[in-house]
Amino acid sequence: MPKARSEFVCQNCGARYMRWQGQCRECGEWNSIIEVSVEKAPTPGRQAAARAMSGFAGAAGSGLKILSTVTAGRTARLPSGYREFDRVLGGGIVPGSVVLIGGNPGAGKSTLLLQTVCRLSLQVPVLYITGEESLEQVALRAQRLQLPADKVQIAAETSIENICALAAQVRPAVLVVDSIQVMHVDGIESAPGSVSQVRESAAALTQFAKRSGIAVFLVGHVTKDGALAGPKILEHCVDCSVFLTSSNDPRFRTLRCQKNRFGAVNEIGIFAMTDKGLREVSNPSAIFLNRQEITAPGSLAMVVWEGSRPLLVELQALVDASPYGNPRRLSVGTDQNRLAMLLSVMHRHAGLQLADQDVFINVVGGIKVEETAADVPLCLALLSSFREKAIDRHTIAFGEIGLTGEVRPVSSGQERIAEAFKQGFTRFIVPRDNAPRHLEPGMEVHPISRINELNALI
Ligand code: TYD
Ligand code: MG
Repeated sequence: MPKARSEFVCQNCGARYMRWQGQCRECGEWNSIIEVSVEKAPTPGRQAAARAMSGFAGAAGSGLKILSTVTAGRTARLPSGYREFDRVLGGGIVPGSVVLIGGNPGAGKSTLLLQTVCRLSLQVPVLYITGEESLEQVALRAQRLQLPADKVQIAAETSIENICALAAQVRPAVLVVDSIQVMHVDGIESAPGSVSQVRESAAALTQFAKRSGIAVFLVGHVTKDGALAGPKILEHCVDCSVFLTSSNDPRFRTLRCQKNRFGAVNEIGIFAMTDKGLREVSNPSAIFLNRQEITAPGSLAMVVWEGSRPLLVELQALVDASPYGNPRRLSVGTDQNRLAMLLSVMHRHAGLQLADQDVFINVVGGIKVEETAADVPLCLALLSSFREKAIDRHTIAFGEIGLTGEVRPVSSGQERIAEAFKQGFTRFIVPRDNAPRHLEPGMEVHPISRINELNALI
């Protein structure tokens, strides 16, 4: 019998200490350190996971191999049934992967996963574990959303040992655990949701997923400042961590990847929350570009590249005489420092003097633009607001501006132009190197190579 020992663990970040103290040295949180007992033996959760796994082939360590001889046969991805979801995951669900879905209460995590497993159940066996809602509540929701639930296996369960045993029995391709914060591992004293419980539960499920080849989706809660609740180790041990957030418009939800071991992280998926559950939005430009019929000075549409697709967003600028000696520069949705740089470049190379003006920039729809392709539209919007001359509403612009006043090409210029043309834009202000060779009928292209050429276009 191993000797019982105790240690002190911060409930906020998981840091461990030999003795109690009032403040955690790692994360600075007060009163977050509690005493927990530790066992020397492997923890019970992992033991149970190991027991449940014994039925699966390849359960032991792999031994030495040459990387090129390792066959990656099992990694064929499983489409989730939602193109937006697949895109965020990097092209579908990878067998044996662990995906953590975070989001505020009411973001739609349970709805998204329920809809996904119901669609998946038409092709592969699935298992849905609900720890927060009762079976009746889940059934009611599935009925109301008219989901195909005939083949969905479901259990209300909060014990990791039982979940692993159920999964070993059902052998699903996809296992959903809603949520990791209510799960517990027997033999650990602390309450569900505490650092040690979440860590052990996640570790056991991860180990189970890797050995069994079952893809596991974990729902994770977020704290009030938007970080995932529980220990940081949760994000380390999962393969993908995605967040479901609501944009400024409460009808829409954005699925964004923060970590992905099997694909790019800059992809976003957009869903609309309707009375029939979450619906994919296949044409997101239409929602970010909800433009009025009347054109006002300082407003312009631009094409930004989000992950692997173009997105049309509206950019607004307001230039106004500053009443005090200290003019303000504020940008929402774009980089503040980039704005300061562009103002200097405009002054030096395009003769635009804004030293006594307040400057405000806003990207409509609450989207964050980090691309340098927003430079040219930003300068155009500034010019338009300063001169109080509206830009033709069929105009779209993109392009990067350098410190010497040159306009540089950006990646995927042709795709950006094609997308904007599809959305009804006909006048294009683009870097010379991005100008299309063949113009479609009705297209008007203004290729520019220096920033001062913008003056003539407003
Ligand atoms: P839910 O999936 O329960 O959120 P989470 O699991 O992330 O906490 O979603 C609940 C919210 O979604 C709730 O505020 C109402 C909304 N909703 C709809 O608008 N329509 C629907 O058909 C459903 C199922 C939910
Ligand atoms: Mg939920």
